[in-house]
Amino acid sequence: MSAIQLREGIWSVGVLNPSLRVFDIVMEAKYGTSYNAYLLTGEKNVLIETVHADYFEEYEQNIRQVLPLEQVDYLIMNHNEPDHSGSVARLLDQCPGLEIFCTAAGKKHLEDITNRTLPCRVVKAGDKLDLGGRTLEFIPAPLLHWADSMFTWDPADKTLFTCDFLGCHFCEPTMLDENIHDQAAYEGEFAYYYQGIFGPFKPFVLAGLDKMPADARLVCPSHGPCLSGTLERAKELYRTWSTPKSKEKKSAFVVYASAYGCTAALAAAAAKALEAEGFSVTTADVTKQSLSACADAANEADVLLVGAPTINKDAPKAVWDVLACLDAVNTKGRAAGAFGAYGWSGEAPGMLHTRLQQLRFAAPETPFKVLFTPTTEDLEAMAGYARSVADLIK
Ligand code: FEO
Repeated sequence: MSAIQLREGIWSVGVLNPSLRVFDIVMEAKYGTSYNAYLLTGEKNVLIETVHADYFEEYEQNIRQVLPLEQVDYLIMNHNEPDHSGSVARLLDQCPGLEIFCTAAGKKHLEDITNRTLPCRVVKAGDKLDLGGRTLEFIPAPLLHWADSMFTWDPADKTLFTCDFLGCHFCEPTMLDENIHDQAAYEGEFAYYYQGIFGPFKPFVLAGLDKMPADARLVCPSHGPCLSGTLERAKELYRTWSTPKSKEKKSAFVVYASAYGCTAALAAAAAKALEAEGFSVTTADVTKQSLSACADAANEADVLLVGAPTINKDAPKAVWDVLACLDAVNTKGRAAGAFGAYGWSGEAPGMLHTRLQQLRFAAPETPFKVLFTPTTEDLEAMAGYARSVADLIK
C-alpha cells in the first residue's frame, strides 16, 4: 500500500496484510488485516503508531513517499502491543532524535518490549502537543484494551486516533469506510473484533465512548478502515454491546455432555433445583448447541455448572472448548461448579473443577460425581450441590 492522504496534512502510512488468516495466534482474520499508522505533517511532523516488525520496510517506504524519514520529529504511541510497537526500535535507529509520547504504562511496556531506555514524554489527560498550526490533545483511555491505551485528538481536523478502539481486522485498500464493497462482511468482522478485543472490558468501552469528542468526524483506528460515514453507527454498536442487560432474576447456565444420559440426568436435577431457588436457568447439551451459543451463555451466567462424563480419563473436548471460551477477566462475583457421572475412574469433574478455580470463579471445595446411573438419592445430592454453588453468590 502507498501513502494515502486522508486530510490536508494527514496521511495513512500503514501496511495492508490481505493474506493473513490468523491474527496474533488467537483471532481469525477472514479478510486479512491492516497495521495502520498515520503521519501528520506541518511545522513539526509526527507519526502515530508504527507497524508490526515484519512490515517495517513498507512502512518506511510509505513515510518516505511523504517526507524524508529524518524529518519526523515525534512518535505518538496510543497503545504499545507489538503489532503497533514492533517497529519502534528500528525507527529510532533511523531517527535517533525522535521523541515518543505515550502514557506511563505505555512507557513501561515499550521499554520492556524494546529492552531499551527510550526518550518518552509521559502524557496525562488534557496534555497537548503543539505542532505549529495544529495542536494535538491526549486522552488516556485505560483498558481499551491494555492499561497503556489512549486516544489522540486533532480538534482542527476533528480527527481522533484511537488505535485498536473501533478497529477491525479487514483490508480496505483505500482506508476509507465509504469505499467498502462488502459492507456485511465488514460489519461481521467489526462485531467479531469487538467481541474478541473489547468484550472483556465493557465498562471501559462505555467510558471510552464518553471520552470521545462529540464533534469527531473521522476516527483513525490501527486496524481496518478509517470511520467517517459509519462512525455514529459504530459508536452506537459499541454502546449497545457494552451496556449491561437488565435482569429481573439472577441467571444460571447448566452446560454438559452426556454419553448415555447419566450426566444429563444430573444436569436436569441441578437445573430444577436452581429454578426452585429463583434463578433464570438455561440448560445446554454441548453436542446439540453451537459452541458460540454455549460460550455466550456461560459468560453471561451468574452461576455456571459444567458437567461431563469421563472418557479416557478426561472430559470430552466439546466441554473443554466451552471452558476455553470463558472470559477470564470477568469471573469476579460469579460462581461455578463441576459435575459428572462416570463408569471407571471419573477424573473429568475434578479436572473441570480445577479449571474453574483457576479462572477464579467462586467454587465449592469439591466437584460432584456419581458412579454410572444416578439414584434418587444421587439426584437429590446433585440438587444440593447446585444450591451450594448458588449460595456462593448470595
Ligand atoms: Fe492491535 Fe492491542 O493491538
